[in-house]
Amino acid sequence: QEIENGEVSWQAPSNIALVKYWGKKENQIPANPSISFTLNDCRTTTRLSYSKKESPSDSGNFDFSFYFEGKPKEDFKPKIQSFFERIQQYCPYLKDFSFEIHSENSFPHSSGIASSASGMSALALCVMEIEKKMYPDMNPDFFNQKASFLARLGSGSACRSIDGGLVVWGEHEKIENSSDLFGVSYPYEVHDIFKTYRDTILLVDKGEKQVSSSVGHGLMHGHPFAESRFEQAHKNLQRLIPVLKNGNLEEFIKIVESEALSLHAMMMSSEPYFILMKPNTLEIINKIWSFREEMKVPVCFTLDAGANVHVLYPQDYESKVLEFINNELVAYCQNEQYICDRVGKGARQL
Ligand code: PMV
Repeated sequence: QEIENGEVSWQAPSNIALVKYWGKKENQIPANPSISFTLNDCRTTTRLSYSKKESPSDSGNFDFSFYFEGKPKEDFKPKIQSFFERIQQYCPYLKDFSFEIHSENSFPHSSGIASSASGMSALALCVMEIEKKMYPDMNPDFFNQKASFLARLGSGSACRSIDGGLVVWGEHEKIENSSDLFGVSYPYEVHDIFKTYRDTILLVDKGEKQVSSSVGHGLMHGHPFAESRFEQAHKNLQRLIPVLKNGNLEEFIKIVESEALSLHAMMMSSEPYFILMKPNTLEIINKIWSFREEMKVPVCFTLDAGANVHVLYPQDYESKVLEFINNELVAYCQNEQYICDRVGKGARQL
């Protein structure tokens, strides 16, 4: 179907990996499989208006403007330009339109929370919404799968932000239909405890990232421990399968915390090397360990490629954990800031 102009809008969540993606091959193919909880409250909302051009752009440039929280934002444009370049062969219609992109985040920007996962998945979904207008019979599974495929080309972990619950990205021999090309909903039985899991994000350092994730992934090339790290991720994902089914939190905690520390260990042992944790990150980790031991509360931490700490725990312990956070952990957060989030249902159209 011919389309002229209009507007589409999608909201996509962030996600937090339990088994981490760190290291990639050509074309955003992950060096190892990963799995994440889709979050609920940390979201990007993107509105994409499009209008058909008289004649398609023939230069390498795409025709778009970008607004973040209402204001034009130039420094983000190269990221979007290269996203469009990467997806162009799968979306050949892009050059026929001029676009205006409006984006906003539900969480404080420059909070050190990566917005690339939610941002790139929201944009990919908007592009697919336009494609769907051209092909109205499009199958909904194809829509989601291609949205995830496109999001991956924007930012790897973004492909895990389309579906809700638990999402796997990267081929794993024990996980049916898992793919390097897009994220899939975790296909096996999941214990109820994980369906309402909480993630309270402690904002330890809101500064600019020391290392961008693309540089970070690059450091895994020629890394002395790369092969054993990729193997470890495969094993940890396999170990999670029974745990996700039977709700064995002791085992869950061991896997999740080990993954977080292994991710940071990779950065500490690459060339050049980085320490992305801050002293307060370590203070918080130690406090979580003593609280868990003393109070017998199954709470654990995970980390992304930064200093902020994600505190993960079952819903039933929410009041206990929040009390602990307020009494003992906020002191280590910048401006005492933290964000309460939980497992969510995935992206939604507005
Ligand atoms: O999606 P990227 O390229 O920003 O990589 C993010 C990688 C981690 O957040 C550190 C881990 C993960 O699996 O999300």
